[in-house]
Amino acid sequence: MMSNTNRERNLFTPFQLGPYELRNRLVMAPMTRSRAVEGNAVSDLAVEYYRQRATAGLIVSEGTQVSPQGVGYTHTPGIHGAAQVAAWRKVTDAVHEEGGRIFAQLWHTGRVSHPSFHGGELPVAPSAIGFEGQVLTYEGMRPYVAPRALETEEIAGVVAQFAAGAERAYEAGFDGVELHGANGYLIDQFLRDGSNARTDPYGGSIQNRVRFLVEVTRAVAGVWGGDRVGVRLSPRVAVNGMSDSDPEATFSYAAYALNPFGLAYLHLVDPVAGPMARPGARISAVLRAIFRGPLIVNGGFEADTGNEAVASGQADLVSFGVPFLANPDLVRRYREGAPLNAPDRATFYGGDAHGYVDYPALGEVTAG
Ligand SMILES: Cc1cc2nc3c(=O)[nH]c(=O)nc-3n(C[C@H](O)[C@H](O)[C@H](O)COP(=O)(O)O)c2cc1C
Repeated sequence: MMSNTNRERNLFTPFQLGPYELRNRLVMAPMTRSRAVEGNAVSDLAVEYYRQRATAGLIVSEGTQVSPQGVGYTHTPGIHGAAQVAAWRKVTDAVHEEGGRIFAQLWHTGRVSHPSFHGGELPVAPSAIGFEGQVLTYEGMRPYVAPRALETEEIAGVVAQFAAGAERAYEAGFDGVELHGANGYLIDQFLRDGSNARTDPYGGSIQNRVRFLVEVTRAVAGVWGGDRVGVRLSPRVAVNGMSDSDPEATFSYAAYALNPFGLAYLHLVDPVAGPMARPGARISAVLRAIFRGPLIVNGGFEADTGNEAVASGQADLVSFGVPFLANPDLVRRYREGAPLNAPDRATFYGGDAHGYVDYPALGEVTAG
C-alpha cells in the first residue's frame, strides 16, 4: 500500500510493543540450537549467546518445551522444572543487563517426536496421522511413528501445560511469551487439516481447528495479559509433513480469532527468500488486513527488504534468524551496511561454543 509508505520509519526506529519500548524493530527469530545440558536446561553458554545478541529490539528464545510430553528433540531446553527456570533466569538477567528484551517461545512438538523421549509411549497429536522422515533420538536416527490422537478430555490438560509454561517463563524473568504455532508442531497440527482429522469440537471446520490455538492463547494471556503474548504461525510452510487444503481461509480465521486478545504481536513465517520461499504465495498482506495488532514478518529478509517491509507498512517489525545466528551485532552491521559473517550450517544444531558464541562482532578477530 503506497499510501501507507513512510520513509521515516525503518528497522532502526523504536517500536512500542505492549508495555515495552523496543530500541529498534529487528527481532531475533526463535532458533533451536540443541545445546541444552542434562535435564533439558539451557547451558551457561546460552547466557553468553543471548547476551551477545541483546541489541536486537526483541529476542524470541529458542523453542522451549512446556512439559515432558512436549519434547521432540535431543538437547532442547524446557521450562517445566525448577532447574530449567533457574538456568533461563541467567539468560534473561544477561539480556536485561544489556538493555534488551526477551520473550520465551513456548513449545509442544506433538507428533514431531519419538517414543524414546516418552518412556516408550507414543507422542500425542490431534490425530493418529504420521509423516515421513527421521528423527534424531538419544539412541540415534529413527523413523517418525504415527502419534496417538489426544482424547477430547485430555486437551484441557495440554492447554494447562502451556499455562504452566507461561507461569514459569514469568518466574524465569522473561518479558513475555510467544506461542509456537508454526512449523508443524502441536498447535499447527491442530490448525491444518492435513494433520487434524478429528470429529470432536477440535476438528472438522476451520473454527474447530482454530479452537486449540484460541484456548491456549486465552490461558497464556490469563497469566501475562494479552499485550505480552505473541503468536507465531507459518501458513504456507510445509516442513514436518504439513499441509492444508485452504491455508488462506484457515489462517485468515486464525488471525481474526486472535484479535480479541489484544496480543503483543502476530509473528508470521512467510518467506520472501530462502529454501522455504514460494514466489507469489506470500500471505502476510492478507493477514495484515485482518489482524489488528502489531505484525512481525520473517523468512529470508535482509537489511533492504526488512527496511522496505517496515517503511511500506507491510509489517511493524521484521525477525531475522540465520543473520542473527551468525552476527551477534547484526543491528550495527545493518545500520552501517557492514559485511556479514558467513553462517556455518554444520554447527547450527548441537555442539559446543564453536559456531555458537564465537561469531565475531565487527572489529573483533576470531579466535581461529
Ligand atoms: C538453527 C535454526 C533453528 C530454528 N529453530 C526454530 C525454533 O525453535 N522455533 C521456531 O519457531 N523457528 C525456528 N527456526 C526458524 C527461524 O525462526 C526462521 O523462521 C527461519 O530461520 C527463517 O528466517 P531467516 O531467513 O531470517 O533465517 C529455526 C531456524 C534455524 C536456522
